[in-house]
Amino acid sequence: MSERLLAPHRSIRQFKSQPVPEALVQAVLAEAQRAPTDATAQMYSLIRVIDRSLRQRISQVCGGVPAMEAAPEFFVVCADLYRLRRLVELEGSPWAEFPHIGLHFATVDATLVAQRLMDAAEAAGLAVCPIGAVVNGITELPQLLNLPPLVLPLFGVCVGYPDEDPPLRPRLPLSLVVHENTYRQPAAAELSAAAVHMNPITRTGSWLVVLRRYFAAGGTMEEREGPFVRTLHQQGFAP
Ligand SMILES: Cc1cc2nc3c(=O)[nH]c(=O)nc-3n(C[C@H](O)[C@H](O)[C@H](O)COP(=O)(O)O)c2cc1C
Repeated sequence: MSERLLAPHRSIRQFKSQPVPEALVQAVLAEAQRAPTDATAQMYSLIRVIDRSLRQRISQVCGGVPAMEAAPEFFVVCADLYRLRRLVELEGSPWAEFPHIGLHFATVDATLVAQRLMDAAEAAGLAVCPIGAVVNGITELPQLLNLPPLVLPLFGVCVGYPDEDPPLRPRLPLSLVVHENTYRQPAAAELSAAAVHMNPITRTGSWLVVLRRYFAAGGTMEEREGPFVRTLHQQGFAP
């Protein structure tokens, strides 16, 4: 293993009930906000869900997410062009039509902020878990969170003190994910070996089975596609 530069990251799904001191939450958020941002625009919003009954309702519409309900802190990370539009119009300029590229840069901005939030939290001895299952509730979330047009929930982040101690989970070999100069297509044998290396990340022992469940025809991602695209239209991210 190479020399460690950051606090080790593991997704934590079981949290102590101990609250995170408000000053620490604010410090983590201030650190998160230092993330770089495209065109200076800060095209994201974080919705801190403090109300426990709202949190439960969100968990429900997302299919039941125990970590979301247990975590002392939970944020919905959103792509947000709404505030930017208000600012541009305030300045007296007409808003341009760029829903796709807008979604692209807002998603990048939001993800960088969320990653920095997680890094800061972990550096402070807290634990985190991103929650992509938020997308399961994409149809209901705009109303539950009172989202204006041009705001789209992307994923959630749980934060709190860890109540479990899982091992570091494996990753693909660097040689598969880092390319030199041009894209290198791996051989089938290399992919098969990498899949075996990834097996310990699963409860069942087969990473390929997990990938099939998510990404093969009829899987979770296909199920999410329709409601997601409908919400893109509804929120103004697709013409
Ligand atoms: C965008 C994103 C969405 C995720 N969604 C969930 C989720 O809905 N539920 C969950 O338990 N973990 C979720 N995770 C955590 C991953 O399962 C976890 O990062 C992966 O298994 C690797 O484990 P590690 O983070 O402990 O290294 C998500 C991670 C990311 C980056």
